[in-house]
Amino acid sequence: MSSSKSSNVIDGKAVAAAVIKECLTEVDALRRHNVVPGLAVVLVGEDPASKVYVGAKARTCLELGIYSRKIELPAETTQEELIGVVHDLNRDPAIHGILVQSPPPKHIDEEAVIRAIDPRKDVDGFHPENVAKLALEDPTGFVPCTPAGCLRLLKAAGISTTGADAVVIGRSMIVGKPMAFLLMAKGTDATVTIAHSRSTDLPGICRRADILIAAVGRPEMVKADWVKDGAVVIDVGINRVDDPSTKKGYRLVGDVAYDEVAPKCRAITPVPGGVGPMTIALLMKNTLQAARQQTRVV
Ligand code: GUN
Repeated sequence: MSSSKSSNVIDGKAVAAAVIKECLTEVDALRRHNVVPGLAVVLVGEDPASKVYVGAKARTCLELGIYSRKIELPAETTQEELIGVVHDLNRDPAIHGILVQSPPPKHIDEEAVIRAIDPRKDVDGFHPENVAKLALEDPTGFVPCTPAGCLRLLKAAGISTTGADAVVIGRSMIVGKPMAFLLMAKGTDATVTIAHSRSTDLPGICRRADILIAAVGRPEMVKADWVKDGAVVIDVGINRVDDPSTKKGYRLVGDVAYDEVAPKCRAITPVPGGVGPMTIALLMKNTLQAARQQTRVV
């Protein structure tokens, strides 16, 4: 490719900025009714990537006039202590949204922590009640931020999903499964395949995709010969790979071998600057939805 920003690149930063602009209007409307939306982000332990994400979430809240509370707990925090913190936040009227950063340390049962979050404050959309609402296409539920961001990127790039063959690689509760529900929902209307590490002939399944969503967490796994000519590729992966030539000693790559795949695509998201900024923007959207639903002022 001759230019680094060729026309098939979906600019996640620009689309996220548009979502943030919508949020500003929504924050104004709430503040006119004396409601300050509030988000609590809980981080247990010292995972360096999680620290970066949590910092970015707090900064975006500040930019928007959303009250944010960052709760950093030591890695030794017990599950009972963590659930106690969640219960306190459930009762706190200044907090409309609660997010416990994933993954927690190994001794914590993440599923139990998610179930402890009041579903009305579950802005991640991970609580079983919100998972069910997504499956039921009930708009009062919270849609997980990353898949919601991916769908918004497709829409912003003018990609028609109706009748398209969409393949999602990865079956996580954070991305793969909710992504599949969103793609097959009424109004989006894709034909969806969920593939994963145990799928037979993963490259062959991917080659059928008009829309390929990679969410496996394996650096540059998706190669050029896995991708149909003219496909749309959304890369959810954010993987740190060692690179002594950089100041930090690592660089970020996606789940897609970008340089070889991009020339074949109708559209593709870069890493960084693709899905990442969208996840934060949609978290802000969900926090405002939570504030509206809990206060009923607008
Ligand atoms: N870790 C990676 N992505 C996410 C996310 O969307 N929410 C939470 N809570 N943790 C994450």
